[in-house]
Amino acid sequence: MTSRVIPVAPFTLTVFGATGDLARRKLIPALFHRDLDGQIPDDATIIGVSRRALSDDQFRAFARQALSDHIPASELEGPEVDRFLARLSYVAADADADGGWPELAQRVEAFPEHIPVYYLATAPHLFGPICERLGKYGLSRNGRVVIEKPIGKDLKSAVALNEQIGRIFPEDRVYRIDHYLGKETVQNLMALRFANALFEPLWNNAHIDHVQITVAEALGVEERAGYYDTAGAMRDMVQNHILQLLCLVAMEPPASLDADAVRDEKLKVLRALKPIDDQNMAAVTVRGQYRAGASAGGAVAGYLEELGSSTSSTETFVAVKAEVENWRWAGVPFYLRTGKRLASRVSEIVVGFKPVPHSVFDANVGPIESNRLVIRLQPDEGVKLWLMIKDPGPGGIRLTHVPLDMSFAKAFKVRNPDAYERLILDVVRGNQTLFMRRDEVEAAWKWVDPILQAWRGAKEPPRPYTAGTWGPSAAIALIERDGRTWLEDGA
Ligand code: BG6
Repeated sequence: MTSRVIPVAPFTLTVFGATGDLARRKLIPALFHRDLDGQIPDDATIIGVSRRALSDDQFRAFARQALSDHIPASELEGPEVDRFLARLSYVAADADADGGWPELAQRVEAFPEHIPVYYLATAPHLFGPICERLGKYGLSRNGRVVIEKPIGKDLKSAVALNEQIGRIFPEDRVYRIDHYLGKETVQNLMALRFANALFEPLWNNAHIDHVQITVAEALGVEERAGYYDTAGAMRDMVQNHILQLLCLVAMEPPASLDADAVRDEKLKVLRALKPIDDQNMAAVTVRGQYRAGASAGGAVAGYLEELGSSTSSTETFVAVKAEVENWRWAGVPFYLRTGKRLASRVSEIVVGFKPVPHSVFDANVGPIESNRLVIRLQPDEGVKLWLMIKDPGPGGIRLTHVPLDMSFAKAFKVRNPDAYERLILDVVRGNQTLFMRRDEVEAAWKWVDPILQAWRGAKEPPRPYTAGTWGPSAAIALIERDGRTWLEDGA
């Protein structure tokens, strides 16, 4: 199957933090893959920037290593590797000093007909200073800037950061990445909802009983403990990725896929979230922290051991019963859950439909289970629609619950591109649909802030859970109190 792709114009991409983890693990491999697929125009160039003094060749050697660490050797055998590396050059510059900036400006301005893109793959405290220098050296004029989360640590700091960036770059040239929006299956959620007439009439509180969104990770925080301890699962995953998934499930159909049409609808969902504060926090949220346990068959340390500290009230697990207070969703709980060191790595959205209103079958045919639509984001990306059917064979009717099962790997024999591949080229295309607008980020913080505040004021620390399990038992109680149960692994 050949893919139809929208071509991109020639660009000059400057990556700040070019020798860092994000560049090494994600950006360089993503750019190479797009180049391999012939989607990078011939004269597009990539400039790496960081404080380290490196020559162009040393940076190319760094990039070559990043490719061999993250891309199968079979894809690195052709002449494309050298063609890709030839696009790279390097400038040493510091966000807080002027050294290197004139040279960077010269290199960018050598291609006046290119679209200039500045990717800030750096620590967030450098976003403001880098934007200011881009402004000072005249590089912001027609440039686009890309930033990653964390965008602030609460509403106040997010507003301050957005202001600082906004003084240099207008909103239509600011691209706030939430890499979940670039995942194939997340975009597929829009296809499923809006390219099929089947679901939309049922997509409301008359037919949907509840929604579950799980983003579970098997890994712990490991060497990121320093950062993670200042964030926790609510800031790291819920404020951005999980709320974005919730928005895509709950939003009204936009009039088009134009960036603002989509983002207006997502914003309405965020603004309709029922507030959670110290009044209802204990009833609708659970936070946890993992203790030593087992993962992938081996013993693993607890969070505090990884952190190297005897105490921390940072949550590595969150479960929340959220509600969207509008006509479509009133009374439909959205159970959200995420955590590190859980039983397996699985991200899934389960839309649970209401039961049939009346059974015409004898009681002995077995229970009639409700229909469920399960969208598996990763791994084993796919969609399952669970239905009741007759168990084949003679001897009367017996019912059984089976899935219509669509696996992306089986249906499409193509490599599933990484989210960054799509997102970086969308920046060049000037398509902001899959990027968060300023007001979305701020609305998400507005909902999250009172929860964090209520937790801070709570006497109880996060509940312990054993690594390799599904989190604290209180999270199971949270949903079971409502007569429902968490569904795992496509069930
Ligand atoms: C990042 C978080 O945004 O997303 C990490 O900071 C998390 O803590 C990661 O591990 C999960 O992304 P993915 O694509 O592996 O599901």
